[in-house]
Amino acid sequence: MSQYSIKSLAEYFDVYRKSVSDPERFWAEIAEEHFEWHRLWDRVLYWDPVKPEVRWYDGARLNITENCLDRHLRRRKDQAAIIFEPNDPDSPAVTITYGELYERVNAFANVLKSQGVGKGDRVCIYLPMIPELAVAVLACARIGAIHSVVFAGFSSQALASRIADADCKLVITADGSYRGAKTIDLKRIVDVALESCRGVERVLVVKRVGTEIEMKQGRDLWLAPLLAEAPKTCEPEVMDAEDPLFILYTSGSTGKPKGMVHTCAGYMVYTAYTFKNIFAYRDGDVYWCTADIGWITGHSYIVYGPLLNGATTVMFEGVPSYPDYGRFWQIIEKHRVNQFYTAPTAIRALARQDLSYVTRYDLSSLKVIGTVGEPINEEAWHWYNEHIGQKRCPIVDTWWQTETGGIMISPIPYVTPTIPTFATLPFIGIRPALMDAEGRELEGHQVEGRLCIKFPWPSMARTIWGDHQRYKDTYFSTFPGMYFTGDGALRDAAGYYRITGRVDDVIIVSGHNLGTAPIENAINAHPAVAESAIVGFPHDVKGNALYGFVVLKGDASDADPDVLRREINGLIADSVGPIAKLDKIQFATGLPKTRSGKIMRRILRKIAAGDMDDFGDVSTLLNPDVVEELKQNAV
Ligand code: PRX
Repeated sequence: MSQYSIKSLAEYFDVYRKSVSDPERFWAEIAEEHFEWHRLWDRVLYWDPVKPEVRWYDGARLNITENCLDRHLRRRKDQAAIIFEPNDPDSPAVTITYGELYERVNAFANVLKSQGVGKGDRVCIYLPMIPELAVAVLACARIGAIHSVVFAGFSSQALASRIADADCKLVITADGSYRGAKTIDLKRIVDVALESCRGVERVLVVKRVGTEIEMKQGRDLWLAPLLAEAPKTCEPEVMDAEDPLFILYTSGSTGKPKGMVHTCAGYMVYTAYTFKNIFAYRDGDVYWCTADIGWITGHSYIVYGPLLNGATTVMFEGVPSYPDYGRFWQIIEKHRVNQFYTAPTAIRALARQDLSYVTRYDLSSLKVIGTVGEPINEEAWHWYNEHIGQKRCPIVDTWWQTETGGIMISPIPYVTPTIPTFATLPFIGIRPALMDAEGRELEGHQVEGRLCIKFPWPSMARTIWGDHQRYKDTYFSTFPGMYFTGDGALRDAAGYYRITGRVDDVIIVSGHNLGTAPIENAINAHPAVAESAIVGFPHDVKGNALYGFVVLKGDASDADPDVLRREINGLIADSVGPIAKLDKIQFATGLPKTRSGKIMRRILRKIAAGDMDDFGDVSTLLNPDVVEELKQNAV
């Protein structure tokens, strides 16, 4: 029993050792004792690193929503499952009990069925952070439909490409969304997206803001009347362990987003187990993760992980700055939040405000505070520790990815001693490896290299939707036999890991992964642009901001640079989203290239960071003169 809830460092080392020396036995015990199954597995793990193919709990049958909902009805029917805190601080919070959530999910599942959605169909969910979002996710899972949640800040083009890639049959959206003082016309974005993709037969619309919207006859239906008529019980679809549960898109090194596919059983076991330990969740606690369900953090640690544990999870619709910068802290006081999980970029933004925004609230309910999404810098860590955790609450710096499904490297609070900026030790069952450029594993301590994971874990993504070759190429080819994360990391004398950042062409801006290629494609679509390259540069709040080097076509050299900058950012906002706009744009006559035509991003990164000394060996460049020009004109 104790291995499900780790209470001391000695116990961590003991359970860790068991989990890596006999992983099949270990994961079988966890799965059998803590979840409900229709049928147990024939084999715990099948692993072929070459194909690559991984199957956990092969042959088992289950439905994840029975584990999130039905089984809690016995003891927790009247306990809060979700506390919804709306954007407007004057609107009342809404508590949804496990009993109510069960009924809402079942009713929604029946609506989906009545609209012709069945097992294996893809459903796109494009909703703000309102309860219907969590309900829609679970309703899909109830009937075995594969949910593809798209963050409702993405542009219509980004939405369209995701709907088309997964060939979604139905879209769930809202008339609009609130974001601080702004209202966003979500339905309009969906309408534009659907102009360019066929296959969507039905759009279900949640009324949230009450604005006038267009409803396309024969395609669009308001959700509320359908829900009102739907029966409140729906038999769960019994799924195979390896049936897909959801697709979630993440940026990659090409323009096409990668639809990471997660499957039912392994994802369930791992997200539940990590949630329980990494947030030290105890019965009666109120847990709040500020992420959006449009990202993996929201999937695993707002919806599935907490509900699998019968927890109370807060969903917040708004933003940290509305109506003022005290909003997070006010919500913690109001709901007596015990575990708080947010992103370094939010911490940095809030740390810049007057401390009275924090001190006016009572944060004494907090027991654990966490961060995710990007490396946290020392200053932000100390501010978080001192002013939010009040030096009482351990900080869990959790490293993981959309692809990993659950947290991979993290302290266990009150168990693992923390060091600022270190994600510390691998979670149970996780076997990290640091690799050098030649593909050799760096053994021992005090080493830095590329972070890989050398043994499968239950919640790893199984494939990229529709493109298994790309999955293999991206994750299993750089270091054969191992999963390559795309991150760099170091291991210190104590065996603690510190993530140093991406080593590929993904840039993390305000905690959001942005691939350089889709942004460059958007810029290159401008008629005056010949070519472009994007790099990240350090930014006090966002962690990284984007710097674009843009080469204009010969006949465009006397165009107004300010107009061009605006137009370029407009194109980026339309095709990727406003988050990907460039902070700085430098026009240039050329980009530094190797003789094989590859852009030397290393040089561009130094220029963008204002670091003009020592460019290393530039003699291999095709056009070394351009470096001097770029240095002179840096913005
Ligand atoms: O670079 C790492 C960074 O975020 C990347 C994964 O992004 P995404 O798939 O969007 O998932 C984010 C939420 C899990 C990683 O490759 N990252 C995530 N957590 C940390 C981090 N970098 C440093 N420290 C972390 N705690």
